[in-house]
Amino acid sequence: MVKIKELESIKIKNLEKQYPFILSFFQDNKLDVEEYEEYTLKEYLNHFTEEEIEEWAIDVEKIKLDLESYINQMIEFLGLEKDTVDSISIIAGKDKHGNKENFEELTINKSEIVSIVGPTGAGKSRLLADIEWAANKDTPTERVILVNGKIPDKSLRFSTSNKLVAQLSQNMNFIMDLTVREFLELHAKSRMIDNEEEVIKKIIEAANELAGEKFDLDTQVTGLSGGQSRALMIADTAILSTSPIVLIDEIENAGIDRKRALNLLVNEEKIVLMATHDPSLTLMADKRIVIKNGGIHKVIDTGAEEKGILKELEKMDDIINTMRANLRKGEVLKNK
Ligand SMILES: Nc1ncnc2c1ncn2[C@@H]1O[C@H](COP(=O)(O)OP(=O)(O)OP(=O)(O)O)[C@@H](O)[C@H]1O
Ligand SMILES: [Mg+2]
Repeated sequence: MVKIKELESIKIKNLEKQYPFILSFFQDNKLDVEEYEEYTLKEYLNHFTEEEIEEWAIDVEKIKLDLESYINQMIEFLGLEKDTVDSISIIAGKDKHGNKENFEELTINKSEIVSIVGPTGAGKSRLLADIEWAANKDTPTERVILVNGKIPDKSLRFSTSNKLVAQLSQNMNFIMDLTVREFLELHAKSRMIDNEEEVIKKIIEAANELAGEKFDLDTQVTGLSGGQSRALMIADTAILSTSPIVLIDEIENAGIDRKRALNLLVNEEKIVLMATHDPSLTLMADKRIVIKNGGIHKVIDTGAEEKGILKELEKMDDIINTMRANLRKGEVLKNK
């Protein structure tokens, strides 16, 4: 459902682009928006003078309520409801030896976090790739991925805009010669964001909180360190991406604040899958998939006992993190 609060920060011209039928609402309510295309809805509704409000009996609160229900009715009537992803399901394929995987079907629902564990080379990245591709027996594992219980439409698999999946892959290299600002502007533009400056500021701040050495908007992306570019991609995905499925391939090896990164990426509306070798990240998930020889071997729920153990692990992580920070600063560690 579209909420008026979200609409308020959008410029009139973009509202018209997104909801062409909105023009007749303005007309019917004798609202002249022609000169105010560059205003956000909020700015427009707040621009009336006292006299205008009195003369034309303008009731801003009522307009807001009416507009919200008008848009939602039109969306429903026109069948424009955006595809939401409530669940994805993995249907068993084969492991590396060609044996059927040790499960039948696994469904992951919206707001769940699932970690993927297993030895190096076991097939964790492969599972993420199957989901990204919405595999339909056309990958080495022969798995099938369902979205909302159905084989997804081909357009979902190959569409690049409005992507179903946001992926943070294990090896990421920037090949473009852009500054961080240009890179983020490109992203913001392709998402039709109005408060571009604000969003870009938010991303760089979040990225710098994750990374050790600070960088700014004028840094070339090709000049970022591994950890910095990873931090930038995580912040960018968390703040700009509307994709309902987030796939993360190892956030631990980049020397960034992993726990903070995960908290940034996780959100009620999303499905998060994360391949990891890190015990704390593994237990932060609601459940974990154990991969062996290329196949899903087990699915384990994180129980109360393990959540207790997680608390202990986090204390140890804190100690390690402090020591790491001190070593990075050039200090000599001492016994307590
Ligand atoms: N069921 C399978 N059938 C055939 N090949 C597979 C299967 N599962 C994985 N593979 C292949 O095995 C190789 C290693 O898998 P993958 O890269 O996913 O390992 P990983 O668990 O991510 O390892 P790491 O922890 O080192 O990142 C890949 O080439 C992958 O395509
Ligand atoms: Mg991998």
